[in-house]
This record gives sequence, structure tokens and C-alpha cells, in this order.
Amino acid sequence: MRAMMYRGYGEPLESVEVEIPKPSRGQVLVKGQTSSVNPVDWKQASGKIRLIMPNKLPCTPGYDYAGEVVSCAPDVTGFAKGDRVHARIAGINGGASAEYALCGVDVLTKMPDTMDFATAAGLPLAGMTALQGLRDGAKLPMNDASERVLIVGASGGVGHLALQIARAAGATAIAVCSDRNAGLVRELGAQGVLDYNKPETFSTQPPFDVIYDCVAGDAGKWCGLLTKSGRYASCVPGVGTFARKAVSIFSSQSVAPVMLKSNAADLAVLDSLFGAGKLRVLIGKRFPLSALQEAWKHSESGRTTGKLIVDIAT
Ligand SMILES: NC(=O)c1ccc[n+]([C@@H]2O[C@H](COP(=O)([O-])OP(=O)(O)OC[C@H]3O[C@@H](n4cnc5c(N)ncnc54)[C@H](OP(=O)(O)O)[C@@H]3O)[C@@H](O)[C@H]2O)c1
Repeated sequence: MRAMMYRGYGEPLESVEVEIPKPSRGQVLVKGQTSSVNPVDWKQASGKIRLIMPNKLPCTPGYDYAGEVVSCAPDVTGFAKGDRVHARIAGINGGASAEYALCGVDVLTKMPDTMDFATAAGLPLAGMTALQGLRDGAKLPMNDASERVLIVGASGGVGHLALQIARAAGATAIAVCSDRNAGLVRELGAQGVLDYNKPETFSTQPPFDVIYDCVAGDAGKWCGLLTKSGRYASCVPGVGTFARKAVSIFSSQSVAPVMLKSNAADLAVLDSLFGAGKLRVLIGKRFPLSALQEAWKHSESGRTTGKLIVDIAT
């Protein structure tokens, strides 16, 4: 099968022929239709985060995968050949940038009938980070109309899904993005928009119960906009976030670094929200698998709107 691979940190991606892998215990083999780019893919490949997220080298990168089941390990139940499935593949290398990939059934769901493969690949990693950040990190109740939520980076992969999940949870959701994306986030449900180039306007806002930071993890900058018992979560936690978390034991405000945990139950929650018409994946751009390097370059620019989809079966 064809796969994209880098042989060492900082080295370019190559298109290579490798053997189709065989599923072992708890796994299914999936023939891929689509994958999606997440910043972690190129961050890992650069080697800059190797101390916290090392790869096995050479590495076939990528975590989001959607396609059809080809075969199952003998112990697998609940999935069969031909099922349309998607997953955020677990494991240090992912392996989603290939014509076939192994997926553990603990992270796999059957796609809703109305879901297309681009949506199915765009949803898992970013969607679970959005869901877990709001629900588990920021303790957003999933049914409470009194909550006021601020999503920082609401036009990006994680942020645009977090915005819709906050709305689905009944909250009032305000988006932080650039002026050029204001219309787009309003279409996705934002009830107010703050331009990150005009931070002087932020302090006139009524305080927020929840702030979910999908950009920088600068807790110090945002906690001043919270209510006295407000909750801040960041999926980009920096030193400042951890320091603020440490001192938050003396405060009624809480600070939570978010680290995604792949699991099929949360992906099923996202599938249901999609099925109920409450969640859609905005497709920023599509690239063939052979142009993965170009897709990464686009992602690295920091200007992605929604998700970048990789078409495997082209
Ligand atoms: N902890 C975890 O488990 C986890 C999981 C997933 C992702 N992450 C991390 O979360 C971050 C976001 O991921 P992503 O996939 O959402 O990235 P992304 O799609 O590449 O985010 C790009 C978006 O960020 C917006 N943006 C840039 N600077 C901004 C600012 N100062 N204020 C508001 N918006 C700004 C951009 O809008 P403009 O073009 O208008 O500037 C663009 O729409 C990445 O650093 C990623 O590595 C962590």
C-alpha cells in the first residue's frame, strides 16, 4: 500500500510502498477514504515535542481516519467487513496517512449514515478535544442555558467544534477570532464575536463562566474575564497555565490543562450531535494524500479555517 512517511525528525515526507498491516487483538483493518491534518502531526514530525510526544521512527503520521472495515481480529465483535467507520487512532505514531490503517475498536465508531467521509475524518481528534475541554476541563454542564462561554480561536479546527458544542449544551457562546472569520463563526452559532486584534474591547464584556482557549494557553490573560467562580481550560497549555493551575487552589476560579484521551464513547457523543444537526465540520481545504507536506505547510501558517481534509482514495 501507499503511505506517507518521514524517516527522522525534521526530514521531509516521502511517499513509500509498505506492506498492508494485519489486525491483532482488538483491532480492525480499515481501507481509508480520508484523514485530516492536526497541528500535532507536524509538531511531532519537527521533533520539537519529542520529549513529551515521541514517535517511533520511521513514522507514518496522522491520527484521524475514516474508511471501510476490511477485516477484523478474531476477538473483535460489533464490527464487520464493509462497515463505514472513523476514529482518532491511538498510539504514538497514528498511521493515518496511508491507504490502510489499523484502528483499535476502543476508539472506533460506525459513521452515522448521513455523514460523509470528509466530515468523518475532520471530527475525531478536534471534536473530542473540544468536547473534553468543555465538559471535563471547564466543567461545562451539557444542559444549562445560564452558562456564558468564550471560545478563543473559534475559527480553527478545535474551536469551531467547541463553539457548536457549547451552543448544543445550551450555553451562550461568544467567539474570539479575527475580523475576517466573524461571519463564519456567527453562522456556526456564535452569539457575539470579539476580534483578537482589538483586545481593548474585551473588558467591556459581562464576565464568562467558562473560557476555552484553543490558541495560546495564556491563562493570566483570560482569567480576568471570568466570573469569580469561572473556569478556564486550554488545549494549548503553556507554563503559565500550569503555574496558574498550581495557584488556583487558593482561588474560586479553576484552571485546567486539556490533554485529549481518544475513546469511542466520546466519538459516539459527537456522532449523535452530528446526527441531531447540532454539529458540522467546516472543511477549510482538501488535499490529496500525496500533497500531505503542502497540507502541513498550510496548517503551520496558523490560518486554517475549520479542518484540513486529506483524501486518501483519490
Ligand atoms: N491538548 C490537546 O490534546 C490538543 C488537541 C488538539 C489540538 N491541540 C492544540 O490546539 C491548538 C489548536 O488546534 P487547531 O486544530 O484548532 O488549530 P488550527 O485549526 O490550526 O487553528 C487555526 C485557527 O486559529 C485562529 N487563531 C490564530 N491566532 C488566533 C488568536 N490570537 N486568537 C484567536 N484565534 C486565533 C486562526 O484564525 P485567523 O486565521 O483568523 O488568525 C485559525 O482559524 C493547536 O496548538 C493544537 O496543537 C491540543
